[in-house]
Amino acid sequence: MSAVIEAALQSRLGFLARGGWQAELMRAVSDVVDRHALASESAETRIADDPRLLREVAERLTVAESYFFRQNDQLERARDVLIGAIERNGSARFWSAGCSRGEEPYSVLALLHEHSPGFAARTEAWATDINAECIATARAGVYSAWSLRGVTEGRKVTHFETVGANAYAVKPHLAGKVNFTHSTIQEQLVQFGAMQFDVILFRNVGIYLTAEARHEVWTGMQGRLSRDGVLLMASTDPLPRRSLFPGLVFANVGAIETATGANGQPERGVALQAGTKRATPTRLRPASRKPLRRGAGTPTRGTQFEQRIEHALRVADRGDLVQASSLLDAIVEERADDRAARFARGRVLLALGDHESALRDLSSVNDHGGAVPVADYYATMCLSQLGRTDVAVRRLRALEDRLRSLAPDACVGGSLPHGDCTACELLGAVRSDLRRLT
Ligand SMILES: C[S@@+](CC[C@H](N)C(=O)[O-])C[C@H]1O[C@@H](n2cnc3c(N)ncnc32)[C@H](O)[C@@H]1O
Repeated sequence: MSAVIEAALQSRLGFLARGGWQAELMRAVSDVVDRHALASESAETRIADDPRLLREVAERLTVAESYFFRQNDQLERARDVLIGAIERNGSARFWSAGCSRGEEPYSVLALLHEHSPGFAARTEAWATDINAECIATARAGVYSAWSLRGVTEGRKVTHFETVGANAYAVKPHLAGKVNFTHSTIQEQLVQFGAMQFDVILFRNVGIYLTAEARHEVWTGMQGRLSRDGVLLMASTDPLPRRSLFPGLVFANVGAIETATGANGQPERGVALQAGTKRATPTRLRPASRKPLRRGAGTPTRGTQFEQRIEHALRVADRGDLVQASSLLDAIVEERADDRAARFARGRVLLALGDHESALRDLSSVNDHGGAVPVADYYATMCLSQLGRTDVAVRRLRALEDRLRSLAPDACVGGSLPHGDCTACELLGAVRSDLRRLT
């Protein structure tokens, strides 16, 4: 039972089968069968062939976990980007793709409201989820204490009204201010047409999608990010391969910006809008297409060694950070002074939130033969996560000076795996972090 439905969920909706989901799937199917009184002999094919019924099964399989101000650093970054857009253009727009019960988009609006009610009023908010119950709750804007866990008392008073023993309603400055749509992200991207967004939040959703579905979604999002726009994903989410998405530049683990030139002009992001055919400026060829230059003192690694690091990074890209870090532990144990291995592990540990160990690995990259700006940049991210903001800012400023002195298209990743990045791209990320931290 359900093999046909499972295949349809994967191919049509991009749902990734999770370990142990067979029982859940059976329950979801029998719920839908009962609800529509489907004849059991033909139920499986009816559901697989009917998009509405298939989506009803899918809704019952989603993980709708969310809470207000989740991973708030990223939400503050979203707020800052929206503020920048309003200051430049008079208005801003964001989309929470996979918004669950609406905690995420309301949190962004709440942060904007705290900055200035006028800025919140000039922001158009969109939020989409496949789960009808989630969207109904989001529209009603009433939550249990569980959704507000971790919200400070001050914020509770500012943004919520107590409407029952365990019920909190968003206040009028938030209620009705988000356009909630009940749809799949893939369908919604089509619905949006040429609409552009300053911020897209696609957090804690990609892990539930197949690689093909993620690729489709990232492609659509890349085309809908406006100039200086930011796509935010959780640090545990699988991230797009840079070489496949040259219009996006990694600004952080999980924070991805449209590529912006050193003079603040977009170089490639806008050129990649769907339907726009523009030549890629030669000045900014993706660094990944250049022959890799080994930094001084980097030992020549056997192909098999490099492949093991690549494999570990692919495991990380799929979202299994714990496995990736143990693969890299074994590699580092063999060659503790290999910069590529230490860099790769540092990035994975950073995504895992082990900032002390990540900092040790990333710093060791520079200890073993010349400073590599990309490694330096990630080390500053560890420092800021560890609360050592002053040191992070000092090092970011030094890095900014150094990057400014390089040719914009100079490769600043040395030969580090997945470290390919131009001076101009990294400068954009460094400046954006400096704005955030100072
Ligand atoms: C774990 S929640 C994440 C919520 C929020 N983004 C956050 O980070 O707190 C994932 C949400 O994505 C939704 N979702 C999963 N696949 C989807 C799809 N293809 N289209 C729309 N929503 C989807 C689920 O229904 C669920 O509510």
